[in-house]
Amino acid sequence: MDILIIGSGGREHALAWKIQQSSKVKSIFIAPGNAGTSQIAKNIDITTTEEIIGWLKKNHIDLVVVGPDEHLANGLVDKLEILGIPVFGPTKMAAEIEWSKTFAKQFMKEEGIPTAMYEVFDDLEKAKSYIKTRSFPLVIKASGLALGKGVTIANSINEARETLDEIMLTKVFGKAGDEVIIEEYLYGKEISIHAFCDGINTILFPPAQDHKRIFDGDKGPNTGGMGTIVPVPYVTQGQMKIIKEKVIIPTISALKRRGRPFKGILFPGIMLTKSGPKVIEFNARFGDPETQSYMRILETDIVEILISCINGNLKEQKITWLPRSACCIVCASSGYPKEYQKGKTIGGLDNIQNDDIVIFHAGTKPDKNRIITNGGRVLGVTATGENIQESLVDAYKALELISFEGIQYRRDIGQTITDCP
Ligand code: AMP
Ligand code: GLY
Repeated sequence: MDILIIGSGGREHALAWKIQQSSKVKSIFIAPGNAGTSQIAKNIDITTTEEIIGWLKKNHIDLVVVGPDEHLANGLVDKLEILGIPVFGPTKMAAEIEWSKTFAKQFMKEEGIPTAMYEVFDDLEKAKSYIKTRSFPLVIKASGLALGKGVTIANSINEARETLDEIMLTKVFGKAGDEVIIEEYLYGKEISIHAFCDGINTILFPPAQDHKRIFDGDKGPNTGGMGTIVPVPYVTQGQMKIIKEKVIIPTISALKRRGRPFKGILFPGIMLTKSGPKVIEFNARFGDPETQSYMRILETDIVEILISCINGNLKEQKITWLPRSACCIVCASSGYPKEYQKGKTIGGLDNIQNDDIVIFHAGTKPDKNRIITNGGRVLGVTATGENIQESLVDAYKALELISFEGIQYRRDIGQTITDCP
């Protein structure tokens, strides 16, 4: 098979790495890819829907795998389905559960899926009156896609007012801020759940934990994610059963009933609260950097799984995971998630002797015979181990050998679970 992966992040490099191990695969193309993907696949320098469709009309591809949410929101999957090209990912209508938080909240309310209490506003003055009646912290979200930056946890009424002004008046997120959601703050531990879905059936991955804030101790602004561990030792089978029965299955059934069957990865962010697991948000794609850890311990041929999701045969598909733990530590450019510089030489990538370390590239680019930084999140260093601790020791050892000007990474990935085996 010839496979095209859409995207340029660590997630896409990890998917390519795993897809490459499939006996079914002849060639892998990545649009646009990065310096890492160019070592195992052919990078194609195209990004827009029109460019991708134009390229696919000229090149025969047996399977397209869509990474980023923007393409799902823009209906790339629908367009490829019309052309008869097998594609892994949800249609625009099914992906609305990610690209419209208003839709997702309304859907959860109507279907009885546990989530934070909320109100939606398209009028600034009404939103400002409402916050006077609430206690703090209070969560304020722009409804549309905002590159993971559309959520503010306001600790006071002044902060809440300023946030509403920024979103609804100054329009810092553009049209994504036409509506805001104001919701109850949930206390608890946050985990990432992924499920393969074929429109009707679903198979859950083991639980993952991301680390969203830029600095150690969960300080500083939110990022796309600074590191992950899989599985999460403190999550019980009982909690996973509740998540499957109260969140994943009702969501898939209701989307099917509403005429928008979901094929792809359903990825809810879940808060484990005192009153049970609650959905923070839904994503309609593989997580980044969750995927980097997941691909290290997925045992089954991923191409087989992706095809069974597309063909609606997931029920017959067996999925196994190595009995190991995995971690991914993200190295980012200085300044990220705010402004950062690109073009710094990355050193040390060839010095790593440990075969169990796999480095997935994100914002990197080849430049003559060097590799240079080309984004906020630059590399994801992954390792596996008998347990999380073992994988973390190896990953942090490898990190000491890697360098670029301004490199920053969290030193405490997985630390909240250090007391667990
Ligand atoms: P989201 O983009 O909706 O995932 O929100 C980004 C981050 O904000 C989440 O990963 C949580 O850490 C935090 N967050 C969002 N909603 C809530 C909530 N209702 N209560 C507590 N934290 C939240
Ligand atoms: N790591 C979180 C996400 O992919 O949205």
